[in-house]
Amino acid sequence: MRRFEGKRVIVTGGGKGIGKATVARFAAEGASVVLTGRDRGAAELAAREIADETGAAVYPFVADVSVKADDQATIQFALDKMQGIDVLVNNAGIYYEEPFEEISEEHWDQIMDIDLKGTFLMCQAVLPHFKEKKAGIIVNMSSTNGLAGEIGYAHYNAAKGGVVLLTKTLAIEFGPDNIRVNCVCPGYILTESTEAMDSDEFVADYIQNKIPLRRTGESEEVASVIAFLASDDASFVHGESILIDGGQLAD
Ligand SMILES: NC(=O)c1ccc[n+]([C@@H]2O[C@H](COP(=O)([O-])OP(=O)(O)OC[C@H]3O[C@@H](n4cnc5c(N)ncnc54)[C@H](O)[C@@H]3O)[C@@H](O)[C@H]2O)c1
Repeated sequence: MRRFEGKRVIVTGGGKGIGKATVARFAAEGASVVLTGRDRGAAELAAREIADETGAAVYPFVADVSVKADDQATIQFALDKMQGIDVLVNNAGIYYEEPFEEISEEHWDQIMDIDLKGTFLMCQAVLPHFKEKKAGIIVNMSSTNGLAGEIGYAHYNAAKGGVVLLTKTLAIEFGPDNIRVNCVCPGYILTESTEAMDSDEFVADYIQNKIPLRRTGESEEVASVIAFLASDDASFVHGESILIDGGQLAD
């Protein structure tokens, strides 16, 4: 399947994890991709690997989504390199697990700035281009934590819940401009970051008690849903938040 031949995509936080798998998926289906991240080495390495594997044009760009000037520079870089933007994937995000009473103002602000404000700023930065061409697709990254509370993640839950409602609001406001906006809500996906955070015992217990499919998810299983939402297969899907959680929130 090559649904994105000739399409131009931006993926924030594309140097590793779910973002990298998403870049790989779009590239494999024919898109050109700008991949952003704060870590130059990781962004350049991921872009080179994916370009070698797929033959697609993959452009790394160092940018912090929480900084407005970086977001505007990302859009300008994408326009210069690809002469247009068809799809924006707001993937970049961080998470900490800590009891509510121990959450520092610094951690609260970091999560809000990257996970929620970064999404807002990137959407605002791309909108003039999408409105001008009367077309555009945005896929935001929320989480099961954006739809249900989880102890230890008050700041993350608040930010990801915000992403769900930001998505719905943009869908209502910019649907008339033919700008389609949706978000994905992954459950437990094994990435370098989750592996570093959780012990094997914690993961085994989590799977047994919380995930009906009795396994964690893979980054590629999120990437495929993001690609679906960005494709014409989802042409009437708008303002939606899709769970990718092995059934975790089904009960
Ligand atoms: N892994 C999971 O279980 C899971 C579940 C639900 C949602 N998510 C969400 O998916 C997204 C990716 O998660 P992941 O597990 O792949 O994480 P990860 O840590 O493996 O990757 C995150 C990427 O975002 C980049 N990033 C972080 N802060 C940034 C910033 N300020 N500006 C630009 N880039 C930045 C990092 O450099 C990295 O490339 C996050 O938004 C996360 O909240 C993850």
